[in-house]
Amino acid sequence: MEKKTILFVDDEPNILSGLQRMLRSMRKTMSFQFAESGTAALEILASEHIDVVVSDMRMPGMDGADLLTAVQKQYPHAVRIMLTGQADEGAIMRTVGVVHQFLAKPADPDILKQVIKRATVLQDLMADKQTKELVSSIGSLPSLPKMYSMLQETLKDPDCSLADVAKIIEQDLAMTAKLLQLVNSAFFGLYKHIESPSRAVNLLGLDTVKALILGVGVFSELKSPGSKIFDVNKLWYHSMATAAFAKIIAAQETDDKEMIDNAFIAGLLHDVGKLLLFSRMPEKYEQAVTLAMESHCSLEEAERQIFGACHGHVGGYLIGLWGLPGPVVEAITFHHSLDSYPEPSFCPPIITHAADYIYYQLNRGDCIGEPRQLNEYTLEQLGILDHVERWVELCLETQNRCEEDDG
Ligand SMILES: [Fe+2]
Ligand SMILES: [Fe+2]
Repeated sequence: MEKKTILFVDDEPNILSGLQRMLRSMRKTMSFQFAESGTAALEILASEHIDVVVSDMRMPGMDGADLLTAVQKQYPHAVRIMLTGQADEGAIMRTVGVVHQFLAKPADPDILKQVIKRATVLQDLMADKQTKELVSSIGSLPSLPKMYSMLQETLKDPDCSLADVAKIIEQDLAMTAKLLQLVNSAFFGLYKHIESPSRAVNLLGLDTVKALILGVGVFSELKSPGSKIFDVNKLWYHSMATAAFAKIIAAQETDDKEMIDNAFIAGLLHDVGKLLLFSRMPEKYEQAVTLAMESHCSLEEAERQIFGACHGHVGGYLIGLWGLPGPVVEAITFHHSLDSYPEPSFCPPIITHAADYIYYQLNRGDCIGEPRQLNEYTLEQLGILDHVERWVELCLETQNRCEEDDG
């Protein structure tokens, strides 16, 4: 495999030389470049191919936020990582939607290595010829749903209030109606009726509501034709359920709120590649579905035969370009191919994979083609294979509650 090039940007020479030492063991598979300012970094980017940019936030002149925003515009396929200190809260808000991953400074060497390895695999995907060709044959890609990007913009202002957020949502009546319908569904088990977006944000948290808005936005933006072979409504239900299951699994294993939120978003969007392929090339997608059913292979295998890439990779590619958090992009990309996910730990890719598997265990009739297999090997390695039984019980409880609610 081609060597990946990682560019580090920091105005402190000591930090750069420390990084150089820390990363020595990785030089067989990667090459490293170092720049002492944003301007110097852009010069390097203009003269050679860079796969991953890791930048410090605070630098004189062009700061990390400005640099990575420029990188996103000019080199959208480079993975962008930011090192931040304690006082960088405002800067973090400024780069939501730009940075794939934030790392606290000083970076723990093992975590830094893990993040870089994962970033290069993600970059492989963003640069994968077949996926790229497929995506470009689709024509223009959908952009980030409008309301979601408006919310992101508003949230960049440190003085923005809950009322500001609610006001944006309320402007769109159709979105408000859908959002309230969702938050009142038994998936959230709130046992009380929520009548306004601001209540929803209060009870569920801004991140969950934002994720729902993104999900609703993506599904309504990617208009799909009616089809007897592929049912988009079913896909939406599956996505909602997988999101709820992913949240349950994550909350069962960790208190890390960011991980729980990312698992939820990843569950909601994990099959966005299916939606993208079906909405843009419906006949071909129906062919893939038919192939999976008739030849008893998995849907991913059939997609690879018909399109040259599977929905995980196509979806991950799109969401990667949108600048969603790295763990979410990784989860979408690898939910059917955990074997090629580097350095597995308990994280959104594993959670999404398990949530998707559990959904089809509980709803066997919904599975197109060969049933999903659980990647027992990876779960065993992480010492959590015997937790799956409990996860299934918890997910089943939620699903039963939802069915009671419907009936
Ligand atoms: Fe999938
Ligand atoms: Fe799925």
